[in-house]
Amino acid sequence: MNGGEVRRARRSEPPALDRLRFEPMQVRDLDEVLAIERVSFTTPWSRAAYHRELLLNGCATYLVGRLDGRVVSYGGMWVVLDEAHVTNLAVHPDYRRGGVGRVTMLALEQRARELGARRMTLEVRVSNTPARRLYEKLGYRGTGIRRNYYTDTREDAIVMWKDLED
Ligand SMILES: CC(C)(COP(=O)(O)OP(=O)(O)OC[C@H]1O[C@@H](n2cnc3c(N)ncnc32)[C@H](O)[C@@H]1OP(=O)(O)O)[C@@H](O)C(=O)NCCC(=O)NCCS
Repeated sequence: MNGGEVRRARRSEPPALDRLRFEPMQVRDLDEVLAIERVSFTTPWSRAAYHRELLLNGCATYLVGRLDGRVVSYGGMWVVLDEAHVTNLAVHPDYRRGGVGRVTMLALEQRARELGARRMTLEVRVSNTPARRLYEKLGYRGTGIRRNYYTDTREDAIVMWKDLED
């Protein structure tokens, strides 16, 4: 597909999580990833930013969740020693509220464990209730606030941690 609009699925059924497959993100996935990125974030990452992450950043791991061939979710992290720091997570708007975000985070956690991580951390905007609820449900606990963390809106971030060995 071209890099323009996010493709609409006209979904009425919950997504079939048993058919969701996770694979390392490749440069060829970026049209689909960026279409989701642009409708998901106030300040979306650019193609160049993803290129750097995929091709140059040795500690970065990105996964795409694919359902019947199309990318419906993705997430990424940096794994340094025994800590994994989540950098990004998004679900195609047509596939939200069906468990895809939860399963995508679980896939990231599993990959982090395989890479030797024992703890997972992330920042989330104070106003991002869907993401905060998702992380809390998965066992992440807020440990602090980073004031004015997001440079676009100067919004605060909540720092969350999860012990992957629990
Ligand atoms: C946050 C996001 C990834 C959640 O994906 P999702 O597939 O809708 O999440 P799930 O269906 O797995 O939801 C799991 C839990 O998260 C919480 N949740 C998800 N969306 C929610 C919403 N809109 N309102 C309140 N709680 C929500 C619920 O507790 C939900 O469990 P439940 O459905 O049993 O109530 C998705 O909304 C998204 O892509 N948002 C834009 C990008 C973004 O904010 N990413 C996070 C950056 S830190």
